[in-house]
Amino acid sequence: MVHINGYSDRPARSFLFKRVVGFITICAVFSLIWFNAGSEGQLRKTYTSVSKQVEKSAASALGREEQPDIDGQLKNVTTPSTNIFLPAPFPTLPPPDDEEYMAICMAVKNQSLDLPEFFTHYYFHHGIRRFYIFDDGTEPPLSSAPYPIPSSAITWVYFQPHIHSDKLGDRQGIQEKYYTGCVNMFGDMHTWMGFLDADEFLEMTGGETLSDFLHGWARNDTVGAVGVNWLVHSSAGLLTRPAEGPRKAFNRCIADDPQNDNLKVKTFVRTALFGTMWNCHCIAIMKNGAVQVGEHGDVIDKSCDRNPITRERWGLHHFGPKSREEFLQKQARGKIRGGKSTEHWWNKIENSEQRDCSELTKYVP
Ligand SMILES: *[C@@H]1O[C@H](CO)[C@@H](O)[C@H](O)[C@H]1NC(C)=O
Ligand SMILES: *[C@@H]1O[C@H](CO)[C@@H](O)[C@H](O)[C@H]1NC(C)=O
Ligand SMILES: *[C@@H]1O[C@H](CO)[C@@H](O)[C@H](O)[C@H]1NC(C)=O
Repeated sequence: MVHINGYSDRPARSFLFKRVVGFITICAVFSLIWFNAGSEGQLRKTYTSVSKQVEKSAASALGREEQPDIDGQLKNVTTPSTNIFLPAPFPTLPPPDDEEYMAICMAVKNQSLDLPEFFTHYYFHHGIRRFYIFDDGTEPPLSSAPYPIPSSAITWVYFQPHIHSDKLGDRQGIQEKYYTGCVNMFGDMHTWMGFLDADEFLEMTGGETLSDFLHGWARNDTVGAVGVNWLVHSSAGLLTRPAEGPRKAFNRCIADDPQNDNLKVKTFVRTALFGTMWNCHCIAIMKNGAVQVGEHGDVIDKSCDRNPITRERWGLHHFGPKSREEFLQKQARGKIRGGKSTEHWWNKIENSEQRDCSELTKYVP
């Protein structure tokens, strides 16, 4: 009996085994060719049709009356059961970038708690209508959490295999690969793409909108990328995650000093002139000899440092350490590009000369 069962099971099992192996192989091959030139058009088509479907279902779920509230200005909304008064937005919201002239690319892992405020900030205060989120293996996937903007504005990208090693060598170049892939797959639908992290919040300091600012640079074909200086915020003495979110809570930042991290830039790139991502801060390699510049047209070299540090037109608030509790979580999570945030870095920021930085505390929503 045992033999009969044994013999009859074995071929079935091996058949199943082969199918599973075949399926895994196909998945692996697909992930390997993910960023290859030949598959890009195909992938883009798939993503376009998927995002169209999401858009349609989101539109019908929202209904015709609520749609303008989300895409236009925030209004006081009255529901039959309760009266919910949303406070008036501050500062005045820019028009939505419905043509998706700009987009944001991000590689992120296990930060579903940090994404809502990030989405809110860029969707409402910068008019961004397209986010490409490369989920670096979060379980459950980041896309399964609820977010305060229409899901049709977010394109989720999953990249296999997920390598969760903390060793620097194992992860080297992965963030740059995500970013380069983002431009290769989706870049031709946008004039500009920004590469940001979930703890980075842009402020237009000179009264321009982000869209107007970038439209201005697009008139100069020598300019392939524009870098914005960091303004690194400290923990502001907070030990635990603040309920009110980073923009309101971490209201202290480090004073500008050419020796500290405020020197670093993050970049928006003109996709038509994009070559290769140099590191997660800036581009460095662009087509037609294009250069990357700061807000005054000053050239930024491949060190990705910008000195003198100015933020007269824009600045990037970087909530790096956050509260002690969140810093320890960040250390446990590790960086996307491998390695961990160090105690040395925490001490460096915390012990720097600090000042009040309340610009974003007033923002609504
Ligand atoms: C919403 O209602 C509150 C309370 O009545 C009011 O102070 C606020 O100005 C209103 N906001 C808008 C956008 O109408
Ligand atoms: C993901 O983040 C949450 C909240 O920060 C934490 O509780 C959880 O342990 C993290 N999971 C992993 C796998 O790091
Ligand atoms: C274009 O930008 C470069 C770099 O900032 C600058 O040197 C050049 O003068 C600009 N050209 C025009 C026409 O504004």
